[in-house]
Amino acid sequence: AGSLLLAAVIAYLWGSIPSGYWMGKLLRGKDFDIRVYGSHKIGATNVRRTLGNGPALIVLLVDLSKGLGPTLLATLIPLLHGAGWGPTVAGLLALLGHCFPVFIGFKGGRGVSTGGGALLVTSPLAFVISLIATFSTIGISGYVSLGSIVGGLASIICGLAFYFFGLSHPTFFALVTLPQLVFLVVGPALVILFHFDNIGRLLAGKERKIWQKEAIPA
Ligand code: G3P
Repeated sequence: AGSLLLAAVIAYLWGSIPSGYWMGKLLRGKDFDIRVYGSHKIGATNVRRTLGNGPALIVLLVDLSKGLGPTLLATLIPLLHGAGWGPTVAGLLALLGHCFPVFIGFKGGRGVSTGGGALLVTSPLAFVISLIATFSTIGISGYVSLGSIVGGLASIICGLAFYFFGLSHPTFFALVTLPQLVFLVVGPALVILFHFDNIGRLLAGKERKIWQKEAIPA
């Protein structure tokens, strides 16, 4: 239990690093809070909408590493491994850290990039399938949020398929363990839940498309 607690604390603090929020301050001055604009979130999508492509790409990569880093550490370091549950706890807590960051009043993002980084470590195959599902949905619909939701559903389906198919065909297709399955289902379920306001806008036909930029005062 000690190792799980340690993995959780490290991952939560790491995930809490508010890169999108800091990017806003770096580019627009110390009084700028990206959470005033667009979707009010600190993720790469809102950074792109308000600050542009380059800053968004940097934030995307940093946020991805916030999920990848702690999950990989918990995979590799025996002290944090927690009999296979350490990486799952680390991935989930990094995601929650990004969404509820302790450093900026617990108002962060939706956990897509950070969860994606943890997913990459947990199941590279599910990551690739999710990524394809996400980008094709964005390409077809123009909605990043819808792409994230479909990508999340893809991860859940992959987890269940890999786990249960792996159990019945253990010799050639045992792709995920129970702790990995828990991440593949709970991680995306949280991400989808954190899109509740996007879902409301999508249903009302009011969600922003990917090409819509946010005008901010100079
Ligand atoms: O990464 C979150 C994305 O799915 C939606 O972001 O800013 O449009 O709510 P946003």
